[in-house]
Amino acid sequence: MQDTIKRRDFIKQAAASSMGLGLMGASAPAILKSGSPNENIVVAIMGTNSRGAALAQGFSRLAGAEVAYICDVDEQAITKGVKATKEGGQKKVPKGIKDFRQALDDKSVNALVIAAPDHWHAPAALMALQAGKHVYVEKPCSHNPREGELLVEAAGHTKLVVQMGNQRRSWPNVVEAMQQLKEGAIGRPYLARAWYANTRTSIGKGKKVSVPSGLDYDLWQGPAPRKPYQDNIIHYNWHWFWHWGTGELLNNGTHFIDLCRWGLGVDYPVRVSSGGGRYAYNDDWETPDTQLTHYDFDNETSIAWEGRSCNGHPLEGMSASASFYGEKGTLVIEGNGYTIYDNKNREIKKVAERKVNTTDTSGPGFDLDADHLANFTAAIRTGKQPVSFIEDANKSVHLCHLGNIAYRTQKVLHCDPKNGRIMGDEEAMALWGREYEPGWEPQV
Ligand SMILES: NC(=O)c1ccc[n+]([C@@H]2O[C@H](COP(=O)([O-])OP(=O)(O)OC[C@H]3O[C@@H](n4cnc5c(N)ncnc54)[C@H](O)[C@@H]3O)[C@@H](O)[C@H]2O)c1
Repeated sequence: MQDTIKRRDFIKQAAASSMGLGLMGASAPAILKSGSPNENIVVAIMGTNSRGAALAQGFSRLAGAEVAYICDVDEQAITKGVKATKEGGQKKVPKGIKDFRQALDDKSVNALVIAAPDHWHAPAALMALQAGKHVYVEKPCSHNPREGELLVEAAGHTKLVVQMGNQRRSWPNVVEAMQQLKEGAIGRPYLARAWYANTRTSIGKGKKVSVPSGLDYDLWQGPAPRKPYQDNIIHYNWHWFWHWGTGELLNNGTHFIDLCRWGLGVDYPVRVSSGGGRYAYNDDWETPDTQLTHYDFDNETSIAWEGRSCNGHPLEGMSASASFYGEKGTLVIEGNGYTIYDNKNREIKKVAERKVNTTDTSGPGFDLDADHLANFTAAIRTGKQPVSFIEDANKSVHLCHLGNIAYRTQKVLHCDPKNGRIMGDEEAMALWGREYEPGWEPQV
């Protein structure tokens, strides 16, 4: 496996940092039972139907990590998660449990990995932090802006590591492309474009049916106010309902808008607008399948997002990516590679994609995920900030939430560039947070 930290190198690095040699920039103590660099970082994975199974495999393949719990409210997903750890080469069979809170009660667990649906991300992360666990939370880290603020605040109160699953932050050639932008390869970049195109089919009109055996629907809903079970939500299609999901803008936009924000070096916008609709089918799907969103920043830069969930025609030959336009040229991210063009559109530099394991359909491939997972465990051992630390990662998620609020209110939002808060618009601010099922309100 290409750039995964190999066990031998990992032990060398970990030993060096625990001796204060600062190989990985250690500053705070590693939070492990004995402090031994050879001790495994023990994780519990929450939600293993698809992405969580890929993460279970990724962590079980990672040197110095061990998956102790597979937590899912669906028995079939528990089976998938356990199988994934075996495929990852882990000999010890993890415990399969329905309620992740049991794993939070186990003192030997160092971290919770959250790959449940979006309405669970921030509430579960807050519960994990309260239990003293590090957190790897899938993108988007929140269901709404208020949850993002709560999570950042809670993380700030601890020395625990909170990393988001925007794994491109760890891809070597993408990191290099961002460095090229900073060094002026295209002059000052002033426009970044992010896009995603797919040919998702209709989810139809759901029927109210009884909850399938083996699924704890009450715990699946958790913090979200209760709704009757219907047959076109679980699994995956919850993404397209505002009650649990956040639409394509946060589902895939988070990855690519994060690249745009990183490359332009911006935080919060001054103006946000967004249009589109559920154009392709007439069914229960609530979020837009077609969405154009625009962000302006106070340093004369803009980000544009194009999401097409039901028409997969590629842009720049790719179904999803980000590109940058500057005074002297253009840089296009191409998976884990990039190309730079001059202002006459001549190719001046091309860095080819690194080969990845393409058998994984739940993310970009184990080999690329591995760098991000290794960055997380290294941060736990060394106390060094992970690349997708929550204060920063949340800014990209926040941009996506603002896009959805602009779409839902059909208004141009004016924002405070210091903190991303919407100014002078009560209707838009009504979408800042959400109602919770009584007893499930997240707390810092
Ligand atoms: N970083 C990436 O590239 C990437 C890729 C795919 C998905 N994701 C993210 O991962 C998350 C999961 O996506 P998915 O496609 O696997 O969704 P999914 O609906 O297929 O799976 C979610 C799983 O979570 C389980 N779950 C729900 N409530 C739970 C609870 N209380 N405790 C334990 N398990 C619970 C469900 O039963 C299900 O098995 C999403 O937020 C998505 O945005 C990230």
